[in-house]
Amino acid sequence: MLELKGKTALITGGAGGLGFATALALGREGMKVALWDLNGKRAEERAAALRAGGVTAKGWGLDVTDPTAVREGAIQVERELGPVDLLDNNAGIHAPGDFLASTDEEIKRQVDVNLNSYMWCAKAFVPGMIARNSGHVIMIASAAGLLGVPGMTVYSATKHAVIGFAESLRMELRRGGAAGVGMTIVCPSFIDTGMFPNTTPPLFTPWLKPEALAEKIVAAVRSNRLYVREPAMVKLIPLVKALPRAVGDALCSLTGMDRSLQGPPPKKP
Ligand SMILES: NC(=O)c1ccc[n+]([C@@H]2O[C@H](COP(=O)([O-])OP(=O)(O)OC[C@H]3O[C@@H](n4cnc5c(N)ncnc54)[C@H](O)[C@@H]3O)[C@@H](O)[C@H]2O)c1
Repeated sequence: MLELKGKTALITGGAGGLGFATALALGREGMKVALWDLNGKRAEERAAALRAGGVTAKGWGLDVTDPTAVREGAIQVERELGPVDLLDNNAGIHAPGDFLASTDEEIKRQVDVNLNSYMWCAKAFVPGMIARNSGHVIMIASAAGLLGVPGMTVYSATKHAVIGFAESLRMELRRGGAAGVGMTIVCPSFIDTGMFPNTTPPLFTPWLKPEALAEKIVAAVRSNRLYVREPAMVKLIPLVKALPRAVGDALCSLTGMDRSLQGPPPKKP
């Protein structure tokens, strides 16, 4: 079991739904918490709410797509809150619409926030963890990182890439003898945070509550579990992909997965 009490966590996108729920859960474990978010005002407000609950916390406005800002921000966080032993790569965005309707800017921004920022933050914090042979990285991916989903093509591509990055990095750490640095990859379906409005989740995948998911993430970190896949239906994705394509496609239609981002069905007149 990883000891969290008294150590420092850094959460990217920490002012958002899942990020802040995770901050609260880590605070309850006795961790000091640093929040980075593009929305600096909200990051500071969230940190103030944590402090009001007795947690040592600080919030900063920071764009995690900027590698220089990440490097400089990391020095500041460690100076003020001590070495970061838990990195929660959580910041994420989704630009609605089908791929061919996406602008170049929307494509670049999703890759920058959802994937590249995870690499900049890992470069900033993992070397310190290796030196101490102690630490943990959470990579917030998605069920859309295990299975392509229409209406989130670029998002899904970034989340598949996050899983490849996380699995490879974990093996590099293992090969390099940094066995004390753990990794948890999180693959949830839809979470009730407002990131996906006008969405009808597929059958058997009810909206997840960020607070409940955050508890599962923290439990996985404590026991150094590699994957969190929620709800249970997500664990079946590899099986669905192993089926003949026509059967898999039929299942996606039957559950409504392929229509989930089209909003609720129109009301009958
Ligand atoms: N909501 C869902 O249904 C869902 C499902 C699966 C995975 N996820 C993933 O969970 C993570 C958290 O999402 P959420 O649902 O809490 O959404 P959210 O919108 O509530 O939180 C995301 C946060 O990231 C911040 N952010 C965006 N760009 C940033 C940047 N460049 N620099 C710093 N911060 C930035 C936003 O300001 C926001 O506070 C994301 O990685 C998301 O892809 C969400």
